[in-house]
Amino acid sequence: MTLLPRPTASPPAPIADRFGRIKRKLRISLTDRCNFRCPYCMPESPEFMDRADRLSRAELSRILMLFVAELGVNRLRLTGGEPLLRRDLEGIISDAQALRPFGLERISLTSNAALLEKRAGALKAAGVDDLNISLDAMDPAIFGTLSGGRSIKPVLAGIEAARDAGIPVKLNAVIIRGINEGEILPLARYAAAARLPLRYIEFMPLDGRGEWTRDRVVPQADILEHLRAEFAVTALPRSNDPAAYYELDDGNEVGIIATVSNPFCASCDRLRITADGSLYPCLFSKHGISLRDPMRAGADDAALAQLIRTTVWNKDAGYAANPGYSDRPIAMNSLGG
Ligand code: GTP
Ligand code: 5AD
Ligand code: SF4
Repeated sequence: MTLLPRPTASPPAPIADRFGRIKRKLRISLTDRCNFRCPYCMPESPEFMDRADRLSRAELSRILMLFVAELGVNRLRLTGGEPLLRRDLEGIISDAQALRPFGLERISLTSNAALLEKRAGALKAAGVDDLNISLDAMDPAIFGTLSGGRSIKPVLAGIEAARDAGIPVKLNAVIIRGINEGEILPLARYAAAARLPLRYIEFMPLDGRGEWTRDRVVPQADILEHLRAEFAVTALPRSNDPAAYYELDDGNEVGIIATVSNPFCASCDRLRITADGSLYPCLFSKHGISLRDPMRAGADDAALAQLIRTTVWNKDAGYAANPGYSDRPIAMNSLGG
């Protein structure tokens, strides 16, 4: 039996972990498949899940209602793999609109943008609020190295199309020592010309190929040093975005997501669900708890909500408490970054 509450003036009891961190943001991976093969994310020979194992649009809709109306989540981010590979993406976003009266404030998407050009208008019409787009290099050859040989052209066209459709865009660049530190400045120049916020991301130890080593991480301090070669850099006040933000003297803003050198776990307000419906409270959680299996076995909303509350309560402290290589059985493409 499904108990759907009516919208009320009073918000639901928030969901918290044992460290007192209240969860407001849910990231749902819609597929583990991707049209790119970024080495920092995908295993060399990925084995993708069967389509039947993925949460269907109806199952997603039910889970989202539970998280928003019962558990107080107010921001949703749809991720992958590549979420544009789901043909029902616009439908999933339209379904999520029904959650606005229950407190959902934002529906976001994280994408590589290669398939975006033709779909930006439909995504806007479906009600997407903003897009985070991965762009690791401006140099086509380096872009190729970091995407598994893909072209940068459709990505730049996708970014343009999103802007034309009126969807706010943020750019994400994972920086890896020996590969793309030289792209830090070209990316900043592109972002400034396009008037888009850009975030540099430290390479995290979840790459699925076991190639991460600490010396391949370009830490926040080094990224700032690269920027200072060309710009005056002013730190901005910290928000609950994972990035620390800076203003450059060209007027643009850049952020740095410093999971390795300066983890922000103490204020973590996120949860994650894989495309097959496993709840991972932390990006570095070793295991997920399936929500799909009890759901398919007939569990009601109260039982599912209790399972979620217990799993979240037991969330680990995070990367800050257990730094180093993470030998988790699933790679980034399954957990949506
Ligand atoms: P917002 O919902 O706007 O805060 O988006 P976001 O910045 O979290 O989303 P995005 O998908 O663009 O992720 C950017 C980078 O931040 C990726 O490398 C993610 O892996 C990383 N990231 C996102 N959430 C977390 C988190 O909870 N912990 C850590 N350590 N990294 C995260
Ligand atoms: N380290 C840091 N960021 C990563 N992402 C994927 N894998 C890694 C990693 N090992 C990023 C992508 C994308 C976001 C969802 O996660 O670049 O921007
Ligand atoms: Fe949150 Fe885990 Fe990321 Fe730390 S590593 S910020 S606890 S998801």
